[in-house]
Formats: sequence, C-alpha cells, structure tokens
Amino acid sequence: MTNDLKISPSLLSADFGNLKGDIEKVNRSEADWLHIDIMDGVFVPNISFGFPVLKYVAELSEKPLDVHLMIVQPEKFIREVKELGTLMMNVHYEACTHLHRVVQQIKDAGMQAGVTLNPATPVSLLTDIVADVDMVLLMSVNPGFGGQKFIPNTLDKVRELRELIARKNSKALIEVDGGVNLETGAALVEAGVDVLVAGNAVFKAPDMAGMIHQLKSLNK
Ligand code: DX5
Ligand code: ZN
Repeated sequence: MTNDLKISPSLLSADFGNLKGDIEKVNRSEADWLHIDIMDGVFVPNISFGFPVLKYVAELSEKPLDVHLMIVQPEKFIREVKELGTLMMNVHYEACTHLHRVVQQIKDAGMQAGVTLNPATPVSLLTDIVADVDMVLLMSVNPGFGGQKFIPNTLDKVRELRELIARKNSKALIEVDGGVNLETGAALVEAGVDVLVAGNAVFKAPDMAGMIHQLKSLNK
C-alpha cells in the first residue's frame, strides 16, 4: 500500500476559455502535480496542446509538470519538454522502438522518466526496463480523450506491476490515467497505486479543490 498518494489533475478537462483560472485553482489545491496530455493525431485519434500553449501553462503552474506524450517518436521533443521545466516525461511503450535509449535520453536531459502502457499492453513487457524507470503509467482507458469509462482490468495490472517492481528492486511509482473518480480511485489505492490522474472528476466538479482533497484522502 502507498503512504503518499499523489494526485495529478489532467489539464485536458480544464476550461480552455479560462485556462489561467483553472491552473490557479490547481495551484491553490492539494494537487501534487499537473498532468499535461500531448497528442499528435497519429499515435492517438486526437490533437491537444502544442508547445506555445504549454509554455504559458508552465509559467502559470506552481505544481510540477507530469507530461504524458501520446505521440510517435517522442524522443524528438525531449528538449522542448525539458524547457517547460517538466519533472516527469512519460512516453508510450508502444511508441518507442528503442525504449531503453529514450529512457536514458530523458534522464540525461535532467528529467524523471515514465513509461506508459495502453490497456492491451501487458505489464510483463516491462520486465527488462522497470528497474530503469521512475514511473510506470498504466492507461485505464484508450488514450486520446477525457471522460471515458475506467477499464476494470487495470486493477489486476496494478497488482501485477506492484509484484514486478518488488521483484526487480525498482523504485518506480505506479500512476493510473483514465476514468479515475472517487470510486475507481479507492479500488486503485487498494490495488497499490501511487499516483492518480483525474481529468473530468476534478475539472467538472463544482468544488475542484474539495474533489482533489477527497481524492487525496483515499490514501491508506
Ligand atoms: C486520455 C488522457 C487522460 C485524460 C483523463 O488520453 O491521457 O489524461 O485527460 O481524463 P479523465 O480523468 O476524464 O478520464
Ligand atoms: Zn494522460
């Protein structure tokens, strides 16, 4: 079980007409990180923010950035992601032919490295990389859109990943992204998650800071 559950609100569900106001609300909340979804319309069937917008987001955010790249060849943008002041750069397993090299490049750039798995990608494929990464991000929806329904099989993946991390003496955190709310969040905490990403649950809540507080309180 985790002692220090982290909450990473996903900016994809924010009010884009008032990004500044929503980021300031996150700043004033108990959120630990700010989750940023970058999409390219190729790896996933959607496009989100580009770097000119993210530069502005990064200036406003007082929370460390947890950047999730849903793009092909993410290694091409390591410098741009670093320039945002990013703490954690997450790349998809499915998007990296030479994953070990990309992980090293991210670390050499001075960031923490996260590897992300799509719902159909088995945890066992991380056996030979899990000791080298700072975080594993398990997708609990198919990436590309906010507001989708949580895929329950993710709970088994969290438990399996917990075992793999222990077996390989890895220090990797486990983050889950997609369809996280108070109900699925509680089940994920039980399964052993370290970081919850929440988009709709946070940004569509009438009291955003209150919802972040409630998610944070799911901690054991
Ligand atoms: C989906 C993104 C998620 C998304 C989560 O592709 O990676 O971060 O914003 O949104 P919710 O929490 O609404 O499922
Ligand atoms: Zn994400």
